[in-house]
Amino acid sequence: MSRTLVKAALNATAPADTIFLQGWVRTRRDAKAFSFIELNDGSCLKGLQIIIDATLPDYAQVARAGTGASVEIHGKLVASKGGGQKWEVVAEKFTVLGEADATYPLQKKGHTLEFLREIAHLRPRSNLFGAVFRVRSRLAYAVHQFFQAKEFCYVHTPIITASDAEGAGDMFRVTTLDLAQPPKNEQGEIDHRQDFFGKKTFLTVSGQLEAEIFATALSNVYTFGPTFRAENSHTSRHASEFWMIEPEVAFCDLAGNMDLAEEFVKYLIRDATQHCAGDLEFFSKFVDPELLTRLNFVLERPFQRCSYTAAVEILNNSGKTWEHPVAWGDNLQSEHERYLTEEHFKCPVTVYNYPRAIKAFYMRLNDGCEPGKQTVAAMDILAPGIGEIVGGSQREERLDKLVARMEVMHIPTEEMSWYLDTRRFGTVPHAGFGLGFERMVQFVTGMGNIRDVIAFARTPKNCEF
Ligand code: 4AD
Ligand code: MG
Repeated sequence: MSRTLVKAALNATAPADTIFLQGWVRTRRDAKAFSFIELNDGSCLKGLQIIIDATLPDYAQVARAGTGASVEIHGKLVASKGGGQKWEVVAEKFTVLGEADATYPLQKKGHTLEFLREIAHLRPRSNLFGAVFRVRSRLAYAVHQFFQAKEFCYVHTPIITASDAEGAGDMFRVTTLDLAQPPKNEQGEIDHRQDFFGKKTFLTVSGQLEAEIFATALSNVYTFGPTFRAENSHTSRHASEFWMIEPEVAFCDLAGNMDLAEEFVKYLIRDATQHCAGDLEFFSKFVDPELLTRLNFVLERPFQRCSYTAAVEILNNSGKTWEHPVAWGDNLQSEHERYLTEEHFKCPVTVYNYPRAIKAFYMRLNDGCEPGKQTVAAMDILAPGIGEIVGGSQREERLDKLVARMEVMHIPTEEMSWYLDTRRFGTVPHAGFGLGFERMVQFVTGMGNIRDVIAFARTPKNCEF
């Protein structure tokens, strides 16, 4: 007989004479004539109540079915007599597959997130983390739905790369050299020609440059994969390994890019509110009481748009004293980003046209800038509670300007010749962005720490499991 998931049983429209379930015991309550088990199999937040009558031949097994044990049940699905649930299962055959002894660390109540991080291999069995990872999975599916419906082509960009030019952050090295005795060249330096790929290689910080290659052939593409940054950031928004979605669109400018990013972020939020309603209700009850109001508010209104120059003016007229004072040309710090989105605009805001000096080499130089105030066609979406959730730009498609910028920034044009070929052969205006997937999951769930929205977090000095 095939297994019924708890979710399907709870959503049943009629009783069933036979049903087969498998899962884990959340709680067990023993009365004189029968025992109640709350069965969870991860298919949804709620458990299904199982009633095991003391006259059942298998009843002796019930004593071994403590919290965390795996069990299977053949029985009947019947209308529940008790309040609180529509359906329950009366067991006819009850089997314990695997016991969980009394050291099982997940008890009904009161675990801190810090404690749960220490048992990250067991936390998916908690209500909270079950909900987080169901929402994460649904959002990943929605990413593909959004782009596939728009005829974007999914490109799998490489994870190992030889280009360290993107400038998005420090990179992890990939090598098979013997670190105790690396081969040396004539100058006494490590000889990377003898390394696995015959050169220095790294884990990628972004799939963008490769996505640009494909966008200038297939027009509309996206990547969705892991990216790696070796920065020593200890914040609730930074991970050393995280997933990023990077669309790249040919024949698109900054305005089109901002429109696409906004539509995408809203699509993901709407999809989660439609398909993960039970889990989102749970988050708004136990994680963040404002969550549903905020998500609905974001869906209903257009994001605000504000140039970097206007943003600096807003910050300097705010009457606030900043830990990092900000003048035109400075990077916006997280206190500034949060002020703009949380206090000033009180909604997501897209900041655009940043100073050229603080942005990557590939961003398109804006025409007609004031002398000394050159800007590039960059844009970041800042979201309440998160800060930067999207970063992107229109790309510099003019070969001469791009090469000139690379030279100023000491980026080797010969090594990047493959990239420059896009500008040599049929160059087109194009634009794209990166959405940090974990930050998006944080926004949708209200979870405050990035370590709690990724299965096994990698952060500085932390690579357990
Ligand atoms: O702004 P970033 O660095 O942009 C890029 O990598 C571009 N190549 C994207 C593009 O134009 N195709 O990163 C994009 C997003 C950020 O807005 C943020 O949401 C997320 O990636 N992000 C991180 N998320 C978690 N941990 C980190 N260390 C992150 N660094 C960036
Ligand atoms: Mg950025």
